[in-house]
Amino acid sequence: MTSTDRQYFRNMYAANYDPWNFETSSYERRKYALTLDTLTKERYRNAFEPGCSIGVLSELLAPRCERLLATDIIPSALAQATHRLEQYENVVVERRAIPESWPNDTFDLVVLSEIAYYFDVETLSDIVSLVVRSAERGTQVLGVHWRGGTDYPLTGDRAHEVINANINLRRVVHHLEKEFVIDLWERVG
Ligand SMILES: C[S@@+](CC[C@H](N)C(=O)[O-])C[C@H]1O[C@@H](n2cnc3c(N)ncnc32)[C@H](O)[C@@H]1O
Repeated sequence: MTSTDRQYFRNMYAANYDPWNFETSSYERRKYALTLDTLTKERYRNAFEPGCSIGVLSELLAPRCERLLATDIIPSALAQATHRLEQYENVVVERRAIPESWPNDTFDLVVLSEIAYYFDVETLSDIVSLVVRSAERGTQVLGVHWRGGTDYPLTGDRAHEVINANINLRRVVHHLEKEFVIDLWERVG
C-alpha cells in the first residue's frame, strides 16, 4: 500500500476543522499528558513536529522547547495552529511536507505523533533517515500512534517497528496500551 493520498487530509479538514477532536477528546488529553511525561528532558533546544494539525500538541510542547518548528500540509489547519500559537515567540509554524521538504536544521527532539502510519514502509524509512541526519548524539525521537484498525498504509505498531529498525536509534522508553503506543528513541553513534 502506498502513502496516504494528500487529498484524504484535504477532505478531512473540509468536513471538520478539528477532524480528530484534538481540542475536546478526553482520550487525546490523556494521551498528550503521557506523551509529555515520556519526554525525559525538561527542556529541548530545537524541536520539530511534522504534521502538527491545528497545533494542540504543539501548544503543550512549546513551553518545553527553546524553539519549536510545527509544520503541516493543510492551509486551514496551519491557520488554526498559527492562531493558537501566536502567543509563543519560540514557535514557528510553516507549510511543509515530509519527506520532500524536510528542514535543513539540527534538532534535539523530533515528535512523530499520529503521522508515521500514513506512509508506506519505504517512505517512512526515508523519513527516519532524515530524522537521523538532522539529529545529533542524544537527540530524542518521540513516536505516538493509535493501535486500532485503520485503512492507513501501516498500523501504529508496524510504524514503530519501522522506526525502531533504524540502527542509529536506540529505544529508551516503551509504553504500550490497548489503544496506543508511545516510544522514545535516542540517536546513538
Ligand atoms: C492525525 S494528525 C496529527 C496531529 C498532531 N501531530 C497530534 O498528534 O496532535 C496528522 C496530520 O499530518 C498531516 N500530514 C499528512 N501528511 C503529511 C506530510 N506528508 N507532511 C506533513 N504533514 C502531513 C495532516 O495534514 C494532519 O494534519
